[in-house]
Amino acid sequence: MLALALSPCLVNAADVDILPRPASVEIQKGVFRIPAGGLTFAIKNNACPELQELLQGYGWKPEQWKKANVRITIGDDAAAENYVLTVGSKNVTVEAPGRGGALYGAQTLRQMLEAGSASGEIAQCRISDSPRFPYRGLHFDVSRNFRSLDFLKKQVDAMAELKLNRMHLHLTDGAGWRMEIDSYPRLTSYAAWRPQARWTDWAKEGASYCDGPGAGAYGGYYTKEQMRELIDYAAKRNITVIPEIEMPGHSHEVVAAYPELGCEIDGPVEDFCPGKEATYEFLTRVLDEVIEVFPSEYIHIGGDEAGKAAWHKCPDCRRRMDAEGLNNVEELQSYLIKRIEKHINAKGRRMIGWDEILEGGVAPNATVMSWRGTEGGRKAMAEGHDVIMTPGEFCYLDYSQDAPFREPISIGGYTPLEKVYSYEPVEADMSDDEARHLLGVQGNLWSEYVYDDSHAEHMYYPRAFAIAEIGWSPRGKDYADFRRRALTMNRHLADKGYAVFDLANEYGERREKADTLTHLAVGCPVSYTVMYNSKYPAAGNTTLTDGLQGGWTYGDRRWQGWSEDMDLTIDLGAVKPIHYIGASFMHSEGAWVHLPEQVTYSVSENGTDFTEVATIYNDVDPTFSKIMMKNYGAPVNVDARYVRVQARQNPRPGAWIFTDEIVVN
Ligand code: ACM
Ligand code: ZN
Repeated sequence: MLALALSPCLVNAADVDILPRPASVEIQKGVFRIPAGGLTFAIKNNACPELQELLQGYGWKPEQWKKANVRITIGDDAAAENYVLTVGSKNVTVEAPGRGGALYGAQTLRQMLEAGSASGEIAQCRISDSPRFPYRGLHFDVSRNFRSLDFLKKQVDAMAELKLNRMHLHLTDGAGWRMEIDSYPRLTSYAAWRPQARWTDWAKEGASYCDGPGAGAYGGYYTKEQMRELIDYAAKRNITVIPEIEMPGHSHEVVAAYPELGCEIDGPVEDFCPGKEATYEFLTRVLDEVIEVFPSEYIHIGGDEAGKAAWHKCPDCRRRMDAEGLNNVEELQSYLIKRIEKHINAKGRRMIGWDEILEGGVAPNATVMSWRGTEGGRKAMAEGHDVIMTPGEFCYLDYSQDAPFREPISIGGYTPLEKVYSYEPVEADMSDDEARHLLGVQGNLWSEYVYDDSHAEHMYYPRAFAIAEIGWSPRGKDYADFRRRALTMNRHLADKGYAVFDLANEYGERREKADTLTHLAVGCPVSYTVMYNSKYPAAGNTTLTDGLQGGWTYGDRRWQGWSEDMDLTIDLGAVKPIHYIGASFMHSEGAWVHLPEQVTYSVSENGTDFTEVATIYNDVDPTFSKIMMKNYGAPVNVDARYVRVQARQNPRPGAWIFTDEIVVN
């Protein structure tokens, strides 16, 4: 920190290792000696018994104002999160217009005390701090793999230290309904249970449900009492719990429990039927019960990824579309969302939906959570809607954060801490008018591949630190400084029993990506007998002979993809002696990317008559579930001008092929 570097007094840099970085820190001469017997505190104006209880939980002892080491003044502005922390020689003061700010001042002080515990002192300073954005969220998918209430409370504790203030609970999805609803008991006696413990096994083995609880039934749900307990626990820590009830998609479990809520067609029905009045009765009654339990201003209604195919065929859906003058299934979804928004608004609450709710016309007062990049959010802001940014590329914490060979199984991708940290929500061409609608940011952890609690913590921390800093700290990036503070916070959480990712020993990006290869095919034209998929062109026709290899994810646009067999020919420009042909292929099960069954290399002098020189078969165990890159390389001994590469798809249904460079030597 600059202020520290220029400071005339000698204080340890660790003394101000605060995460998220405060808005302003002025280091002053002198130190405050941490009392050997521990801190005493007093609160005035707004006594805040909940805060007193928390501070006592930190081991601080209540004391009279005049004798207290830490003197906290709190005003009545419930929404205010700012504070001023002044460390003097004899005592520390925290001044905050509201309880949230007072809590955050205490968190900052705790971080300083911890850093100063070895020396027994902290630097005198004045920290004036306030959040950049009002919404700083972390998302918990308790449907795919269920989590205990204790787990959620433990994460609330960490969130409070990070000054995160919104816990988004993804309470319902195809993999299990997770909240007690009195009107619909089968949601928790059936839709909350499945025969397989792990989502991956459940998905592979037919995605069915069973009665529970009981032997062989996995899952669970929260009672209303438990939800209230979590809500209270979080509220004391300035965290609002936002419930998400998915509609009209991701609702297979509901339709399994109450088939009358699905479309009337032959064949499987996955989602709600927006044609039937029963659907609206179900959704509004459920929401009424949810609203009764959750005081949150915002209620999240999902809205993403609805499978609309059945709606075309369903007589109820068609009738609804005719009656309401809806032109397509997008407008039918929009009809449902708008009707639900009206209901939520009538209860004095506001609705959040994933960015799909923009399709077919966005509900008038909706807040949009932008996950498919930021375009949806930008569009919504331009139309005057509030937006929470959680673009998948930066904010999806279900992607691997390190080299996949060292990481637990994941859905794919590569989103290391530095990548999350690099996200800047206010884009360069965003007007002030637009930016005013940007409420904040959120990190999402979808849990399909995250079976246990320790794995979940591994995925959250330290990446949630970056979300916290983006949401809280003033604009500006210094990754080295952030990483140093993240290491400190990581050690702190590890000491408290969180299973954090070992940032200190991060492996990093695939080494091959840093190399620029020289080989015979570099710069040579490629002609495609089977064109690559238009969604995954990488750099287009030059990408496989540009000397550049890909990293841990095809999302880096270095990998070219096919959803069918691959077939292409490279023209070396002249007949040349060739002793090696090879290429790397990707395996990433969660993303449907599989190693080709076989790769055949053929050569030709004239471009017409080809001779096969090598075929390499896939020898990887089909149950291998992590991400890997396999080299299909072959020594050859030929003279040729044209090199043809044919890769045959893996027999798994829907398998993609991805490769990054054809190497010819
Ligand atoms: C989402 O990831 N389907 C919101
Ligand atoms: Zn229908």
